[in-house]
Amino acid sequence: MFSDTIQLGLIKQLNRELESSLLYLSMASWVEKIGFEGICEFLYDHSNEERNHMFKLIRYINKRNGNFYISINNKSLETSYSSLKDLFQKLFQHEKDISEEINFLVELSSREKDYFTYNFLQWFIEEQIEEEALIKMILNKIELIGEDKSGLYIFNKDIKKYHKKN
Ligand code: FEO
Repeated sequence: MFSDTIQLGLIKQLNRELESSLLYLSMASWVEKIGFEGICEFLYDHSNEERNHMFKLIRYINKRNGNFYISINNKSLETSYSSLKDLFQKLFQHEKDISEEINFLVELSSREKDYFTYNFLQWFIEEQIEEEALIKMILNKIELIGEDKSGLYIFNKDIKKYHKKN
């Protein structure tokens, strides 16, 4: 059964994915302005990926004959960061928060005995494991490189290999 409780949980999540997409977009834009085009492309691509996560949730709700809404409130996203390290620290925390929310939804679907949703959410679990690991790995590299300009120059080129297309 597709309960109102589950629908509401999925609606909140799809709005969080939209927020994630906008967060990556604002970060990409800041990075573009400071001249790291490799890192900027990575973040723009990831913004599209987050939009696809939202899309997946919308299509699932539609398949179950549910309803959804997009909620855009007046919250402003940060558009400036003190450093690349600051940016990736915030991104890592954001992905960890999203993982917790997905975990909560999985638990909720089990409590509600909605095994269709429980099954649907397994993809998001796998995705969060990958995303957390990816952003943490990038953060580790940025921390390791520190202020070394040539290290940042090389990393800005190397980041291409971490682009995911989902
Ligand atoms: Fe869709 Fe990065 O969580």
